[in-house]
Amino acid sequence: MSVRVLVMGATGAVGAELVRQCVKDERIESVVALSRRPLKDSHSKLKVIVREDFLNYSDLAEELSEIDVCCCALGVSQVQVPDPKQYTLITLDYVVAAAKALKSANSDVRFCFVSGMGADESEKSSVLWRKVKGQAENRLREIFGNQLCIFRPAYIHPIHPREKQMWHEYFWKPFFGLKRFMPQFVTDTVEVSKAMINVSFADEMPKMVHNAELRTLAGKL
Ligand SMILES: NC(=O)c1ccc[n+]([C@@H]2O[C@H](COP(=O)([O-])OP(=O)(O)OC[C@H]3O[C@@H](n4cnc5c(N)ncnc54)[C@H](OP(=O)(O)O)[C@@H]3O)[C@@H](O)[C@H]2O)c1
Repeated sequence: MSVRVLVMGATGAVGAELVRQCVKDERIESVVALSRRPLKDSHSKLKVIVREDFLNYSDLAEELSEIDVCCCALGVSQVQVPDPKQYTLITLDYVVAAAKALKSANSDVRFCFVSGMGADESEKSSVLWRKVKGQAENRLREIFGNQLCIFRPAYIHPIHPREKQMWHEYFWKPFFGLKRFMPQFVTDTVEVSKAMINVSFADEMPKMVHNAELRTLAGKL
């Protein structure tokens, strides 16, 4: 097997862990990280593409045609980017543009998307992040059908600290201690990334993975 994985959001808490787990995984031949800035670590299996444009990927058609699986952890918190237009651009438009480019470069590509617990697929929520994540999920379903797995984690504890620490991390940190007792509300970056990788190797990918299912899926690695 020679699987090539694309990681989007590779400088973030989940994305950086995805890269770590992918390079360790013998089932994966190579990893491409698409990022707006260089990654901290390098590896012989890892190729980093630094770019500014996350809406147009025509220059990468050949690169994308060789990708078997995309693990997408690109996103922002509404706390970081409260402006609705900017939040939608990053959370919806960037993700959908990449998804379309991947699908047209390789119709067999699989896509694993980190959404979030509470995403509203009716697209009617008055809470911006819930609505926009729901819109992203729906557009991705239209593009990939059953080659898509949506992950809806709750709080994701960063096992390796983020390069860019955020103030709200200090608020959430104590919740990690509750992970054993509240598996439906707390997970961590290792669990999420291992679960995403494992799911991408499944004969049939689940359509959606909720927080409480992550541990079992991660354990299959
Ligand atoms: N953390 C949680 O508790 C949690 C819970 C549920 C769902 N989620 C979702 O999971 C996903 C990953 O979360 P995370 O905690 O790993 O996020 P994170 O640490 O903030 O990382 C986000 C990634 O997206 C990239 N990104 C953000 N804005 C961008 C822009 N304008 N252009 C290009 N790249 C951009 C970041 O690049 P830079 O490093 O350059 O900024 C980074 O690589 C997000 O979609 C989030 O909504 C997170």
